[in-house]
Amino acid sequence: MDAIESLEELIEKLDHSDASNQGEILKKMNIPLSDFEAYASWDKDTYTRNCIYRTDEYEMILLCWKKGNETPIHGHDDQNCWLYQLEGELTEIRYEKMESGDLTEVNRLQLVPGKLTFMNAAMGYHKLNNDNDLRAMTLHVYVSPILSCEVFNDVKSAFEVKEMKYDTINGMAFSVAN
Ligand SMILES: [Fe+2]
Repeated sequence: MDAIESLEELIEKLDHSDASNQGEILKKMNIPLSDFEAYASWDKDTYTRNCIYRTDEYEMILLCWKKGNETPIHGHDDQNCWLYQLEGELTEIRYEKMESGDLTEVNRLQLVPGKLTFMNAAMGYHKLNNDNDLRAMTLHVYVSPILSCEVFNDVKSAFEVKEMKYDTINGMAFSVAN
């Protein structure tokens, strides 16, 4: 397969592939950052989740990370989760749950542009952290879409279920009337 050179082409390929080919498709990405910047939004206090595309089978989300933004430790239920590092660098820390219920760190990876990683429930838990000076963007493909996930609450020292939300959809701010 030739390199995939636009976001449109990537979506076209993913729409017509089965789950076993998704990793191979994502590895072929050679897409200009400008294709993704149209979907980006930034918040100094937290990473943002920007929905680029969603079907019943998968969702494609752009996560935007300012310096210091990080996720809590979390799991991925029935989903297969691909992460492609587009810009900047993140640290991914993986954990296993011991029989006592405590979490122990088992791996630490530096994600640099072009790096593709994978996560699912069988692989335990992880957290992602932009712990360097530059902003970062990561592309996530969740198969199937994630509605909620287990998140570790540091204060309670226990997992709780958190519903996932988008900050933007198709490049537009998503706000709920209140
Ligand atoms: Fe994750």
